[in-house]
Amino acid sequence: MVNRFILNEVSYFGPGARKELPNVVNRFGYKKALVVTDKGLMKFGVAKMVLDELDAAGIAYDIFDDVKPNPTVTNVKEGIGACKTAEADFIIAIGGGSAMDTAKGIGIVCNNPEFSDIVSLEGVADTKKKSLPIIALPTTAGTAAETTINYVIVDEENQKKMVCVDPNDIPAVAIVDAELMYSLPKGLTASTGMDAMTHAIEGYITKAAWEMSDMFEIKAIEMIHKYLPIAVNEPENPEGRNGMAVAQYIAGMAFSNVGLGVDHGMAHPMSALHDVPHGVACAILLPAVMRFNAPAAKEKYVEIAKACGVYKDGMTVDQAVEAACEEIANLSRIVGIPAHLSELGIKEEDIPALAEQAINDVCTPGNPREVTKEDIIALYKSIL
Ligand SMILES: NC(=O)c1ccc[n+]([C@@H]2O[C@H](COP(=O)([O-])OP(=O)(O)OC[C@H]3O[C@@H](n4cnc5c(N)ncnc54)[C@H](O)[C@@H]3O)[C@@H](O)[C@H]2O)c1
Ligand SMILES: [Fe+2]
Repeated sequence: MVNRFILNEVSYFGPGARKELPNVVNRFGYKKALVVTDKGLMKFGVAKMVLDELDAAGIAYDIFDDVKPNPTVTNVKEGIGACKTAEADFIIAIGGGSAMDTAKGIGIVCNNPEFSDIVSLEGVADTKKKSLPIIALPTTAGTAAETTINYVIVDEENQKKMVCVDPNDIPAVAIVDAELMYSLPKGLTASTGMDAMTHAIEGYITKAAWEMSDMFEIKAIEMIHKYLPIAVNEPENPEGRNGMAVAQYIAGMAFSNVGLGVDHGMAHPMSALHDVPHGVACAILLPAVMRFNAPAAKEKYVEIAKACGVYKDGMTVDQAVEAACEEIANLSRIVGIPAHLSELGIKEEDIPALAEQAINDVCTPGNPREVTKEDIIALYKSIL
């Protein structure tokens, strides 16, 4: 058995880390950037916090800010056009998973033009060249797209989320600056944070998990459990924001290399068909999926209970499993995640189409317990 582990070339952490950006650009000898971001980040001044550093250092850039949440094939195609017009030799991604994933699609196709239809990138594409170099600055604490080898793009024509897995897309540099996250509203802090918790738990129990990924995921679970309520309730408290910024990155280091499970498999169609924000979809499913997977991961659930501080001496394995499931459901509740699909406008008649996509999702085979389409239907129904 051979295990592969891929990480950024270099990464920076800590409030104010964006100030490293000019040094990085100069050290790598890049000439002109395409900045990939979204209109909200431009409007709320988050992108400006990074652009100010570029301006002060006289680094040239063009801006592409047409990324929409749950980005589409069209977003990527337009970004490629913007990159060519700019004659950029590198990309700076500023944003959540949507901006960073769009940047990955742009960077990959710029250097592998045979994939310019974008849809052929779904799954594990056989690209030959590395993406145009990407420097990624996350503004949400959730997806860890700054350190993963994945990107997720909506194929509008077929109404599905394409998960693209490609070691050539990993950003060369990640700059994880918690100050870029202070303005993230409460609801988004909660949902993106629960996305990170879902990565950590699914990455911990996924089929391909091993000692090295376990080491990262269990630490990420402990940190997210500790810091997410602080980040949600005290948005400018550096302890909570930096704790979450680092924790979601740690979760990403591991899940990017070992995969996820049926929670993400079921969450993707909820975004593609009903435009549910990714983190909300992941979080609402998590307690039910954890209970479903418990028989396949009991010993690891005991460790999750310990990491969340709810394990008590003398507990049986089953009691610890239940304590872990209950504590994750509790965390979701206290940060304000809805508990039922009906609260998102999803109805019983929508479930067959969701289940059809979920069983075929790239993440589903990583699930530790074998799962059928009937199981998936039952899981959706159980939280209707
Ligand atoms: N590449 C991966 O490995 C990976 C992993 C998980 C999810 N994803 C994908 O990432 C996408 C979701 O990304 P996301 O959850 O980070 O959200 P997002 O990037 O879609 O952003 C959501 C909203 O938050 C706003 N926002 C972001 N940062 C802000 C800030 N600091 N202040 C104020 N507003 C801010 C944005 O403008 C946007 O309107 C989905 O498409 C999902 O499938 C990718
Ligand atoms: Fe996710």
